[in-house]
Amino acid sequence: MIKVLNIVGARPNFMKIAPIYAEMKRRESEFLPLIVHTGQHYDEKMSDAFFNDLGMLKPDVYLGIGSASHAVQTAKIMLEFEPIVLKEKPDWVLVVGDVNSTIACALVCSKLGVKIAHVEAGLRSWDRDMPEEINRILTDSISDLLLTPSPDGNENLKKEGIPDEKVKLVGNVMIDSLFRNLEFAKKSNIREELGLIDKDYAAMTLHRPSNVDERETFEGLLDALSEISQKIPIIFPAHPRTASRIKEFGFSDRIANSNIKIVEPLGYLDFLNLMSNSKLVLTDSGGLQEETTALKIPCLTLRENTERPITIEMGTNVLVGTNPEKIKQEAFKILETEDFAKDAKNPPLWDGKTAERICDALIETS
Ligand code: UD1
Repeated sequence: MIKVLNIVGARPNFMKIAPIYAEMKRRESEFLPLIVHTGQHYDEKMSDAFFNDLGMLKPDVYLGIGSASHAVQTAKIMLEFEPIVLKEKPDWVLVVGDVNSTIACALVCSKLGVKIAHVEAGLRSWDRDMPEEINRILTDSISDLLLTPSPDGNENLKKEGIPDEKVKLVGNVMIDSLFRNLEFAKKSNIREELGLIDKDYAAMTLHRPSNVDERETFEGLLDALSEISQKIPIIFPAHPRTASRIKEFGFSDRIANSNIKIVEPLGYLDFLNLMSNSKLVLTDSGGLQEETTALKIPCLTLRENTERPITIEMGTNVLVGTNPEKIKQEAFKILETEDFAKDAKNPPLWDGKTAERICDALIETS
């Protein structure tokens, strides 16, 4: 029996842990799984709503960390998590993605000699100004089992000198959640509530510090997005970071005068419903680049780089950066093309069975 502490901290972690936890529960003779929630994200809409939507039990341990500077947040997670590891004595700690909770918990375990499995290993944007890139590189360098979502992850880890026997291509576990929940998401009334017509609106998310923390960059993006919104309404569930910048920079009127509609962050099922019926997604999120690939929805990524190049290769994702002209040009191209992503492909092993392969890998390595 393998005891595993599964770590969640921020919004993009919940849909990755849910299928892994469910698979461990299903294989109860092999696994004893617990969920530890660091509380990096704590708002009802950024956290609890996801537990409900994903049918996850309440976390076994809640650390209640909340927001702070990167150093304080990371350090607080480490301080609170260490006694939990000492008390629970897990065989493995499983971390996902690239948020501060990922590196903080991995670092604690590396010093205590507890084995670390990193799900979504090997992704690289090659942009060390991104806090997530630092979290990825450091977490991968101290993990014992590196579970990659796509072959580029294996290649990156090889280049960094990580031995092949620690690395396993398992596919994308976020897509397990996506496939499992699409049917439930159909019951959401979000499009009726927002008065939307199928395939006649765009869905947008924006929260990277590099896009929203500097007034000039954010303003340039908003100019381009306002123009696009004259051709197609844009629904914009705003992350708390983004909502506070909009207030601080005085952009509320500008948005109110466009056809961009700001709404509160949505739950998982509402967002899936919104995204899967949209004509186009505009985003700086990592997860949305992947979900749109699996859904064959065109996606414009408002970043200069991506750690998920496979989504571009497959034909759904276009990297447009933050240049307003380029963003408009690519958006108009998609709007004018009938079924832009019709020839897009699905990456290997993005098949809804990644959680099974993750559990198999844990057993094989134990
Ligand atoms: C974090 C992750 C990022 C991920 C994103 C998804 C890191 C370094 N970054 O960024 O990789 O894509 O989550 O959402 O871990 N806030 C709230 N309520 C909440 C959570 C945050 O109001 O429930 C506010 C905080 O006060 C803070 C801001 O949002 O000012 C940013 O939160 P933080 O956790 O620092 O990072 P994110 O930008 O959310």
